Amino acid sequence: MSPIPKGGTVAVTGSAGFIGGWVVKNLLDKGYRVRACVRDVNDQEKVGFLKAMPGYASGRLTLHTADLDVEGCFDDIFRGCHGVGHLSHVSTYADEDYIIKVCSHIIKSINQSETVNRVVVTSSIAAVISEQDMQELVRRPVLFEGRYPDETNPRRTADGGQGYSIGKVIAERAFANAAQESGRWDAITCCPGDNVGPILSRHQKNRGPWQHNIETMLLGQYSQNVVGAYRPWYTVDVRDVAEAHVRMLSSDGLKNGERFIAWSTETRDVEEVCASIARLLPELGFAGATLVDPLPDKVKAKEAEYRAIWRGCELRNDRIVTALNMEFRSLDTSIRDCVESLITVGGVSPVVF
Ligand SMILES: NC(=O)c1ccc[n+]([C@@H]2O[C@H](COP(=O)([O-])OP(=O)(O)OC[C@H]3O[C@@H](n4cnc5c(N)ncnc54)[C@H](OP(=O)(O)O)[C@@H]3O)[C@@H](O)[C@H]2O)c1
Repeated sequence: MSPIPKGGTVAVTGSAGFIGGWVVKNLLDKGYRVRACVRDVNDQEKVGFLKAMPGYASGRLTLHTADLDVEGCFDDIFRGCHGVGHLSHVSTYADEDYIIKVCSHIIKSINQSETVNRVVVTSSIAAVISEQDMQELVRRPVLFEGRYPDETNPRRTADGGQGYSIGKVIAERAFANAAQESGRWDAITCCPGDNVGPILSRHQKNRGPWQHNIETMLLGQYSQNVVGAYRPWYTVDVRDVAEAHVRMLSSDGLKNGERFIAWSTETRDVEEVCASIARLLPELGFAGATLVDPLPDKVKAKEAEYRAIWRGCELRNDRIVTALNMEFRSLDTSIRDCVESLITVGGVSPVVF
């Protein structure tokens, strides 16, 4: 199937978000036309940064109100688009029927457009690594695109904390199957790791959760990883994830249903992330922060075992490096730029000596 043409038009769902905002910027910088889909075009706090982009002044960037919970919201927006970057979250990951319904109406709008060639579906490494039973990571420690969480585990349910991972797998398959049926467009999946890097708008400091975790460090208290207990951060720079999305939209040689993990393979324990701030920015006078561990006692008792399991995992990014010629920034760069943006864009006042 076709990649999007140079200068073509791309709709981006979740444009006001951390990654979505960077995808919009990257597309504009490369000369594309962008239809930024947000929940409310009049919510200045969330969309002001998009309206401040130079492409908005000329009309190359337009903003469109689209709430995923409203069927048909993308009908008019997708008509005439060559590509769609589907980065938006959904309102809940606890209800599989709801997720299927949302996928279906987005797919319907894509089919109706008759112009969309390619869709990039933003999934997550949760759809690769989120295991209900940690021993599954011992049995299958290589973290690569062909890996899915153990879907035969009866405890893999939304109530058991797997709603996000389940929802992402559902969406990946729904889009790939629909694309195959259509024969007109293809769906490529991007599974980003833990995004670190600069925020573009103040409201994004509370999202992530990775940039928000760094914000809490700057404010003096941060938390042990709750998702994937004691998992080190499996990181990627948000700007590299945006670049990967645009390459997936515009590259030839990709096949419908192909899946790419976007991470640098650089990992760091949360304690080390916090310690990196003073090391990277000594001029800041950062006083450091206290770690709290909210995990239940039965999980705390297994801390050493869990840390060893995570250390035994092998992160791969060969596929994205080879197929899309991707290079990834260092985590030090991402942390430095994240901290500086939290202060300048986010208005965060770090605790200092
Ligand atoms: N950040 C990460 O480290 C990471 C890692 C792996 C995968 N991902 C995936 O990447 C995508 C973007 O993540 P992000 O970090 O950029 O998230 P984000 O900053 O929270 O942005 C997500 C956007 O989705 C929008 N949204 C949520 N529900 C919606 C609905 N019902 N209708 C319309 N829009 C809706 C939000 O709109 P409002 O602003 O109005 O709430 C928000 O702008 C997500 O699919 C996420 O699962 C993120």
